[in-house]
Amino acid sequence: MHYFLELFVVLVLGSVAMHVSDPGVASSLESLRIDGNLSFHDVSLAARDFGNRYRLLPSAVLHPGSVSDVAATVRHVFRMGSGSKLTVAARGHGHSLQGQAQADGGIVVRMENLRGCETKVHDGEQPYVDASGGALWINVLLECLKHGLAPKSWTDYLHLTIGGTLSNAGISGQAFRHGPQISNVHQLEIVTGKGELLNCSAEENADLFYAALGGLGQFGIITRARIALEPAPKMVKWIRVLYSDFASFTEDQEMLISLKETFDYIEGFVIINRTGLLNNWRSSFNPQNPVQASEFDSDGRILFCLEMTKNFDQDNAETVNQQVEALLSKLRYIPSTLFQSEVSYLEFLDRVHVSEVKLRSKGLWEVPHPWLNLLIPRTRIRDFAAQVFGKILPDSNNGPILLYPLNKSKWDNRTSAVIPDEEIFYLVAFLSSAPSSSDHDSLDRALKQNDRILDFCKQAGIRMKQYLPYYTMQEEWRAHFGDRWEDFARRKGVYDPLYILAPGQRIFQKAVRSS
Ligand SMILES: Cc1cc2nc3c(=O)[nH]c(=O)nc-3n(C[C@H](O)[C@H](O)[C@H](O)COP(=O)(O)OP(=O)(O)OC[C@H]3O[C@@H](n4cnc5c(N)ncnc54)[C@H](O)[C@@H]3O)c2cc1C
Ligand SMILES: *[C@@H]1O[C@H](CO)[C@@H](O)[C@H](O)[C@H]1NC(C)=O
Ligand SMILES: *[C@@H]1O[C@H](CO)[C@@H](O)[C@H](O)[C@H]1NC(C)=O
Ligand SMILES: *[C@@H]1O[C@H](CO)[C@@H](O)[C@H](O)[C@H]1NC(C)=O
Ligand SMILES: *[C@@H]1O[C@H](CO)[C@@H](O)[C@H](O)[C@H]1NC(C)=O
Ligand SMILES: *[C@@H]1O[C@H](CO)[C@@H](O)[C@H](O)[C@H]1NC(C)=O
Repeated sequence: MHYFLELFVVLVLGSVAMHVSDPGVASSLESLRIDGNLSFHDVSLAARDFGNRYRLLPSAVLHPGSVSDVAATVRHVFRMGSGSKLTVAARGHGHSLQGQAQADGGIVVRMENLRGCETKVHDGEQPYVDASGGALWINVLLECLKHGLAPKSWTDYLHLTIGGTLSNAGISGQAFRHGPQISNVHQLEIVTGKGELLNCSAEENADLFYAALGGLGQFGIITRARIALEPAPKMVKWIRVLYSDFASFTEDQEMLISLKETFDYIEGFVIINRTGLLNNWRSSFNPQNPVQASEFDSDGRILFCLEMTKNFDQDNAETVNQQVEALLSKLRYIPSTLFQSEVSYLEFLDRVHVSEVKLRSKGLWEVPHPWLNLLIPRTRIRDFAAQVFGKILPDSNNGPILLYPLNKSKWDNRTSAVIPDEEIFYLVAFLSSAPSSSDHDSLDRALKQNDRILDFCKQAGIRMKQYLPYYTMQEEWRAHFGDRWEDFARRKGVYDPLYILAPGQRIFQKAVRSS
C-alpha cells in the first residue's frame, strides 16, 4: 500500500504541468489540527515568482493562522520520515528568481499570512523591533517610523519579507557601513526541519542563529526576527554624478566607503548606450548647472553613475550642506553632471516601488527576469568591467546594472552568507527584464549574455561569488561554499536531517526510501 502510494505520488508530482491535488498528500495531512488552513486547490500562485521562469506546483499551500501552525506542519512532515517525498518551502513575497520559494509537489507556507503577528518596537538605549518573518520590510519601516526609528541596513526594494532577505543577506547602499541586513539581527525565532520552535541568537543556539542568516532557508523557517534600529532620519539629499572613466569612478567609490565621515548611502550603476535615461532624471533631479547639463552629450561612451545620499533634518541642514560640498570636492566626476534632489527618508527608501507602479501599469512587471548578481573581488573589477561592459553587453536597455563596493569587515564569517575572499568586493547586479513573452529572443539573449559573463569569470580566473546563487548540481554548490561547504552540510544534517526545507534552492535532495 505504501509502495503504491509512493508510486502514485511520484507519478503525480513528477508531472509539473498537471494541476491536480494529490489525495495521498491530502489524507496524510488531514490529521493536522491548525488555526489557519491548508489549501489543495488554489496552489498555482505558489508556483510563481518574480523571476517568472520556473513553475513548480505544490500539493498544498499552508495559510498559517499562527507560528505553531508552521511548526505543526513541519513536524508532521518530519514524522512521516524518509518514506514520504513531501517537502516544505516558506514563501515570503515570492520575489525569488528561479523557483527558490517553490516546492515541487510539497507544501508551500504562505509566510505573509503571519504578518498580522505584532510588529513590536522597543525604544531604549539600543532600540530594536521584533517583526514577523513574513512581514514586508516596508510595513516594518512604517511601524518603526511611528516611533521615530528605522532599521539601519536595507535592500533597494522594500516589498520583500524579513525572512526572505535574511535568508540571503540583504544588500544595499548602507551595507558598506552597517553591513548587510544579516549583520543587524539580534535574535531569530525559527522552526527547524524537525518542527521544533526555537529562539536563537549569538548567546543562545548560536550555531542555528548563524546558520540561518544567509542560510537560503536550509536550516529552518524564520518566524520572527529582532532587528537593530536607529533614530530615523527625516530627509535625504540624493545625489547623482557621472563618470566616463571606470578607474576614477571605482577609486572614488572606494575612497568614499573608506572615510569615517562620509555619505549615508553609496551605490552606482552603469549606463551603456542607453537612450532617454538622462532625460528621465531631469524630472526628479535638478542639475547643479542646467545649461551645462543640457549640453552634456555622452557621445556613445559608457557612463558610470555614482549615487549617494546624506541624511539631514531642518536643524542641521546647513552643516550637512557643507559636509556634502566637502565630499563632492574630492570627487572626479564630469563637472557638468551633478544632479541633486531632496526627498523624505521614506520616499528615498521606497523609491523602487515608484518604478514598480509604473512598470505594472505598462504590463512590464510580471515578465521574465533573468537576473544575475555577482560579488567581484576588487583586484579584478577593472578586468571584469573592460570585458563585460566593453565587449559582452551592447547596451543596458534591458534593465539597470548596479555596481558598488562593500567592505568584508562588516560581514560576519559565522553566517552562511558567501562572499569573495578579499577586503573590498563589488556587488555587480545585472537586473534584466525580458518583456516580450511571445518573443523568446529577449529571454534567450539575456540568458546567453549571463552565460558569457560567467564563462569569462571562469576563464579569467576571477574568484567571484554569486549573490542569490543559482546552481543545479551539488558539485557547483560545493564550489560556491568552498571550504565552508562542510560546515554548511553539517548544519543541514543537524537542523533539517531529512532535507525537508526550501527544496527550490536545489542544494540537497530529499532521499525517499520506499518501504
Ligand atoms: C525588485 C527586487 C529588488 C531587489 N533588491 C534587492 C536588494 O537591493 N538587495 C538584496 O539583497 N536583495 C534584493 N532583492 C532580492 C531579494 O532579497 C530576494 O529575492 C529575496 O529572496 C526576496 O524575498 P522574498 O521575501 O520574496 O523571499 P522568497 O522569494 O519568497 O524566498 C526566498 C528564499 O527564502 C526562503 N524563505 C522565505 N521566507 C523565509 C523564512 N521566513 N524563513 C526561512 N526561509 C525563508 C524561501 O523558501 C526561498 O528559498 C530584490 C528582489 C527584487 C524582486
Ligand atoms: C484559508 O486562509 C486564507 C488566509 O487566511 C483565507 O483567505 C482563505 O479564505 C481560507 N480558506 C478556507 C477554505 O478557509
Ligand atoms: C523567544 O523569545 C521571546 C522573547 O524574547 C519570547 O516571547 C518567545 O516566547 C520565545 N520563543 C520561544 C520558542 O522560546
Ligand atoms: C574596511 O573596514 C575596516 C573596518 O571598518 C577598516 O579598518 C578598513 O580600512 C576598511 N577598508 C577599506 C579598504 O576601506
Ligand atoms: C546604440 O543604440 C542604438 C539604438 O538605441 C543602436 O542603433 C546602436 O547600434 C547602438 N550602438 C552600439 C555601439 O551598440
Ligand atoms: C572569521 O574571522 C575571524 C576574524 O575576524 C577569524 O579569526 C576566523 O578565523 C574566521 N573564521 C573563518 C571560519 O573564516
